[in-house]
Amino acid sequence: MDSLRIHGGVPLTGRITVSGAKNAALPLMAAGLATSGTLTLENVPRLVDTASMEALLANHGLDVVRDDLTLRIGGAASNLDAPYDLVRKMRASVLVLGPLLGRYGEARVSLPGGCAIGTRPVDLHIRAMQALGAVVELADGYIQARAPGGLTGGRVVFPNVSVGATENAMIAASLAKGTSELVNVAREPEIVDLAVCLNAMGARITGHGSDTIRIEGVDSLGDATHRVIPDRIEAGTWAIAAAITGGDLLIEGAYQRHLDALVDMLVETGASVDAVDDGLHVVANGRPQSVDITTDPFPGFPTDLQAQFMALMCVAEGSSRISETVFENRFMHVPELARMGADIQVDGGIALVRGQPSLTSAPVMATDLRASVSLVLAALATDGVSEVSRIYHLDRGYSDLETKLGSCGARLERIRSGHD
Ligand code: UD1
Repeated sequence: MDSLRIHGGVPLTGRITVSGAKNAALPLMAAGLATSGTLTLENVPRLVDTASMEALLANHGLDVVRDDLTLRIGGAASNLDAPYDLVRKMRASVLVLGPLLGRYGEARVSLPGGCAIGTRPVDLHIRAMQALGAVVELADGYIQARAPGGLTGGRVVFPNVSVGATENAMIAASLAKGTSELVNVAREPEIVDLAVCLNAMGARITGHGSDTIRIEGVDSLGDATHRVIPDRIEAGTWAIAAAITGGDLLIEGAYQRHLDALVDMLVETGASVDAVDDGLHVVANGRPQSVDITTDPFPGFPTDLQAQFMALMCVAEGSSRISETVFENRFMHVPELARMGADIQVDGGIALVRGQPSLTSAPVMATDLRASVSLVLAALATDGVSEVSRIYHLDRGYSDLETKLGSCGARLERIRSGHD
């Protein structure tokens, strides 16, 4: 398994470019299953997860052609089964359920795997499909769903906010007969991006970005060309990288309106953050001050930036209380940060971080996507040489990580190893 050797202690400076959003690209690609035309997606990042989704779509029988960052998805599904071998690699594979049911009235999707954070159930996805008239059974580790006469519009009230279940319901309801109302939905920018693309394909969706979405079903969806939004989690990671290394970064392509919660917190730590024409300009101002954060669905502080922000708080002045409310068991980075000298106490979903003047280099091990990058950030902030192993998690969500960070002064190299 590959690892990253990081020589820390260099303030990151210069420009760093943000790729297309993984979490927008995956549902958009799944929406390719719902169209009778061709969906052309631009700015699709080259990642292990997008490659997994390409493989899943191809397994369903679609024609998927990649030309650099553009994907063309067309054709009809010849196979409505999403098998365990493909789905276990990525939890977001469950996003094929809504499109398959909507267009073909049938789907068989393995229960997913993915990041080992919490139990991560799919009950809300199933509930939404049932509210749209599907009959769903769980058997042999598979979700088997049928709507022989097609889905029918309905009212879906989500008891908890789920990004993925909202996306599945949006795509399915777009092809249901009649009108649907989705209540207590996710408001993430990726939801809005999906709605914009589906509407370009001929769907009739309103209310996206608020907590209630209305959808008038249409008979079929057609051709569209859509550009994936920039990855706000990647952008936020680079903003924290500037702050933790005492650096000065122009984060090209970042939208401040997607990152307000992080920007507010970074400003409270003492960093300057300015929206500029082509992105966000982040400048560290001495040692960061501690602040408390609580993760929440958008527009709250993103759970996908919690680990990175915790790394920053490890070197801040004072103590910080970090509450994780979106996922259980999302503190797997804590023991690894502790190996680098961090002082963190975890009690349930709350971590108390006592800031240290500095961290020390150490060999550490990545456990999930965002935990991995938090270790990279911590390593960049030490004065020594750290080795972060099991970085395959990073390749699921960050494209060209070494090149991008290297171009801003970071000294890091990938150590390739054939052993698993
Ligand atoms: C998406 C993101 C992920 C991010 C998360 C929360 C993608 C591909 N991934 O994941 O990076 O961390 O949003 O912002 O977009 N839940 C249930 N039942 C369900 C579904 C979810 O109880 O059927 C729970 C989850 O266990 C979790 C919470 O709801 O506690 C939020 O999960 P959800 O918003 O669904 O996350 P994902 O869509 O999987």
